[in-house]
Amino acid sequence: MKQYNVGIIGATGMVGQRFATLLENHPWFNVKVLAASPRSAGKTYEDAVGNRWRIAGHTMPESMKKMILLDAAADVEKIAASVDFCFCAVDMKKDEIKALEERYAKAECPIVSNNSANRFTPDVPMVVPEINPDHIEIIKAQRERLGTKRGFIAVKSNCSIQSYVPALHPLRKYGITKVLACTYQAISGAGKNFESWPEMIDNVIPYIGGEEEKSEQEPLKVWGEIKGDEIVKAESPAITTQCLRVPVSDGHTAAVFVSFENKPSKEEILQAWKDFSGVPQELELPSAPKQFIHYFEENDRPQAKLDRDIEGGMAVSTGRLREDTQYDYKFVCLSHNTLRGAAGGGVLLAELLAAKGYFD
Ligand SMILES: NC(=O)c1ccc[n+]([C@@H]2O[C@H](COP(=O)([O-])OP(=O)(O)OC[C@H]3O[C@@H](n4cnc5c(N)ncnc54)[C@H](OP(=O)(O)O)[C@@H]3O)[C@@H](O)[C@H]2O)c1
Repeated sequence: MKQYNVGIIGATGMVGQRFATLLENHPWFNVKVLAASPRSAGKTYEDAVGNRWRIAGHTMPESMKKMILLDAAADVEKIAASVDFCFCAVDMKKDEIKALEERYAKAECPIVSNNSANRFTPDVPMVVPEINPDHIEIIKAQRERLGTKRGFIAVKSNCSIQSYVPALHPLRKYGITKVLACTYQAISGAGKNFESWPEMIDNVIPYIGGEEEKSEQEPLKVWGEIKGDEIVKAESPAITTQCLRVPVSDGHTAAVFVSFENKPSKEEILQAWKDFSGVPQELELPSAPKQFIHYFEENDRPQAKLDRDIEGGMAVSTGRLREDTQYDYKFVCLSHNTLRGAAGGGVLLAELLAAKGYFD
């Protein structure tokens, strides 16, 4: 496989640090550029991060420690000239992120983004590679709008939907009519750990800004279809959510209730989960889990602490599937929010784009 030079924009942040560890020994991608805010620019990665390293169980990659951070906004042309594409995960205002990502794309540097700013831009694909890999075909229309030859923006979905949308997807053949999902989201989803957010110890906060809207709307774009030069959202199912912040370091859990037009048996649901395999598995992309959905028979699983790292944090765990009195079924699911839900999902999307020739 061809090798690609890549940049990480927002390298000093929680998601950026995850990108750094995932890309350290990546078989296709070589990190050539690290960039962040003007506060970090000009410093070594080691000095810029200082005591903000947040990836438990991993140290900063040796090969990146002495790399000098560039300024994500002031150095767009320089960065675009040195890499084949960039990952982007920055904490800035939405309109600033939108403008920044578009500047990179127009400088002919493709952007694989973890930010939410462009998720609802109609010609920007929002991709879960096992579910809607075909949406990357909209990039042709996006390039025409931007006037670029190779530059484009592709995004991954929010971490909150990463557990329940994969579990629901193979059940769509039974006609999902309505979904209720309550999410129990880890503090790393806010870029924090217990040292930086001690108020979360022994606590639950029943509000995560903007999260419920994303959790209800993003699945409909992922399940949408390309019509002309845009992705048109699916009209169903009706989805309602409540999103809570819980005292867990990593791993978003969701309690899901679902009803169908044609109610499947429990065995049919379990079989659909077992058989669910997509383009990443077919192409054997380096970060693809072998088995996307793992079902636990034990009543007390999946647990965030025990199960979030299954298949390198790239698989989704489900459990407690049973019939419900108000909906047809209920179950619980879990996914690692900074791996499959953020940086790992971004790397898998980039692998799909590379395999399909979008960085050439
Ligand atoms: N954490 C998750 O699980 C998760 C999941 C999905 C998506 N996301 C999204 O990913 C993005 C980053 O999240 P995070 O948790 O990694 O945040 P974070 O830890 O707060 O890191 C923010 C990053 O943005 C950079 N930054 C801030 N202001 C900037 C500016 N003006 N110009 C350029 N860079 C700037 C910071 O650089 P300095 O260090 O120089 O300030 C840092 O690298 C957000 O959009 C978030 O919504 C996060």
